[in-house]
Amino acid sequence: MPRIFSGIQPSGDLHIGNWLGAVQNWVALQARNECFFSIVDLHAITGQHDAATLERRTLDMAVGLLAAGVDPARSTFFVQSHVPEHAELMWLLTSVTPLGELERMTQFKDKSQKLESVPAGLFSYPILMAADILLYRAEQVPVGDDQLQHLELARVIARRWNAQFGGGTDVLPEPQSLLTPARRILGLDGQAKMSKSLGNTIGVLEGPEEVWQKLRPAMTDPARKTKRDPGNPDICNIYTLHKHFSPPETVVEVARKCRGAEWGCLDCKRVLADNLSAALAPIRERAASLRADEGAVRAVLAAGAERARAVARVTLAEVKARMGFLPAAGPAGR
Ligand code: TRP
Repeated sequence: MPRIFSGIQPSGDLHIGNWLGAVQNWVALQARNECFFSIVDLHAITGQHDAATLERRTLDMAVGLLAAGVDPARSTFFVQSHVPEHAELMWLLTSVTPLGELERMTQFKDKSQKLESVPAGLFSYPILMAADILLYRAEQVPVGDDQLQHLELARVIARRWNAQFGGGTDVLPEPQSLLTPARRILGLDGQAKMSKSLGNTIGVLEGPEEVWQKLRPAMTDPARKTKRDPGNPDICNIYTLHKHFSPPETVVEVARKCRGAEWGCLDCKRVLADNLSAALAPIRERAASLRADEGAVRAVLAAGAERARAVARVTLAEVKARMGFLPAAGPAGR
């Protein structure tokens, strides 16, 4: 079975953008692939790092992913910092990572521009991401289009490392991207990608009332000033969400009643709120029972980390041997 790696940051609650854009696909991929899914907490400290909430956000993300269908019996599901080999391989890979490539990363350029003082971790972030993937010799990496450049760099790093140390073999195979079928999901502002840091999300675990409170003020067709104006569903993010959460006949009805000004935006949102809440209800229920036994969730993550480490150790040992390090004798060598 092809091996897959993907990661998600512990932003706390999983939102419908993550779900439609990534996690639904992860869940589907489990059927035919050997999957490694990680909550990448080491990446999370390159943003606004809040030590007081990191543990909570990590656990909440684990609950959300398990509730959404990540299955620890089929996939290796773990927290990145529980597998120290990620950080160690990253350091080894810094020696084959071209500085110029890191400087070209658009995400780094965007994020660093907004900062007065730029942490080196933000700059090195793509090397850690390469280490995540190469540690498991993953062949395919499901990502959104915003991560394609990072993945391309992971390929460059693998190629360079192989050329320098591989002795003619691809010890670290170049990973392929697996573009996620769902296009990027816009936030409730109808402008930017749905993202926790922009506060424009609906959480997968939010109840019907919270969903409604968030949808009610959400952006629609800005040209539609009153109920009597006909609307244009094609530029309305609420209509896009209908396509994901409402049955096909409702999607057709929504478009017709919007164009014909038969429904106001609130009528349309009410239908979406009901369908969205119904679609998420089973996930919410599973999350509630997982929350009731957090010890079990921690145990699942511990078992996942053990499984991940067993693979990670082998790769790291081979990488270090080929790079010429003196093997540690005795217990430290294990
Ligand atoms: N950088 C990715 C994101 O922000 C998360 C990530 C970290 C990742 N390591 C990865 C994704 C490895 C795929 C493979 O979405």
